[in-house]
Amino acid sequence: MTISVRQIHPVFVGEVSGIDIAKPLTPDEVKAVEAGMDRYAVLVFHDQKITDEQQMEFSRNFGSLEDARGGNITKPEDKRLQVGMNDVSNLGRDGQPLSRESRVRLFNLGNMLWHSDSSFRAIPAKYSLLSARVANPVGGNTEFADMRAAYDTLDAATRAQIENLVCEHSLMYSRGSLGMLDYSDEERQMFRPVRQRLVRTHPVTGRKSLYLSSHAGAIVGAPTPEARILLRELNEHATQPKFVYAHTWRTWDLVMWDNRQVMHRVRRYDERQPRDMRRTTVAGDAPTTVQVPAA
Ligand SMILES: [Fe+2]
Repeated sequence: MTISVRQIHPVFVGEVSGIDIAKPLTPDEVKAVEAGMDRYAVLVFHDQKITDEQQMEFSRNFGSLEDARGGNITKPEDKRLQVGMNDVSNLGRDGQPLSRESRVRLFNLGNMLWHSDSSFRAIPAKYSLLSARVANPVGGNTEFADMRAAYDTLDAATRAQIENLVCEHSLMYSRGSLGMLDYSDEERQMFRPVRQRLVRTHPVTGRKSLYLSSHAGAIVGAPTPEARILLRELNEHATQPKFVYAHTWRTWDLVMWDNRQVMHRVRRYDERQPRDMRRTTVAGDAPTTVQVPAA
């Protein structure tokens, strides 16, 4: 089989064929996928029938798996999937859809806000890989926005203004914007803000991109309302339809994206029916800026 990539959106996103990710990859295949990621930022693979083990194995071709701790409020004993797998389904341990009032469900609704995975970590994620084990029949598209195109189309004055800005990211900002404001002391500690550059440069291509996320709730040195207005304006610019690809899931699709180059969000779906989506996350290798030590 020869791997090939076809661009399926005017500015980014490649559809990959000629690869079976359930099998070990050759070095050339790994290189081809990485080159595709650098260029298209999002890659779509269809008909990839994989187990959790195969998904983790495929993901490890691109770096080590991120430690998922500190990224959610689900207690270890309530987890449906093994360590290494991020459960982004709407299901509980019993395999049934979570109840309407479930705090885990309400927390997970935050995935419907535009974000970059793990931007709330001091070393944010490199790639995310999402496998559809059961696609929901109604809605549930995942949308991606190309943050390189967003950066490239800013006016010169805005680019100069934001070049060296540093934002504070926390899960409490994204969830707080949905009205979830009650956290235990332990959760507050776990979700304390980290710093991220607002403009980042891709380590391979050298392209600049806007590093936005709903987790960003403050800009160092700026009054909060001023920071949030600027972030909102940049988010509106970055998520214009011309920069957005909407992925309609089929069961056994796998989509991988570069969190350093795109934002994404999930759209609403029929939560009474399963949406079994499983994510692996490839860890990043460096912070985007200097962190402030915890007080
Ligand atoms: Fe996400």
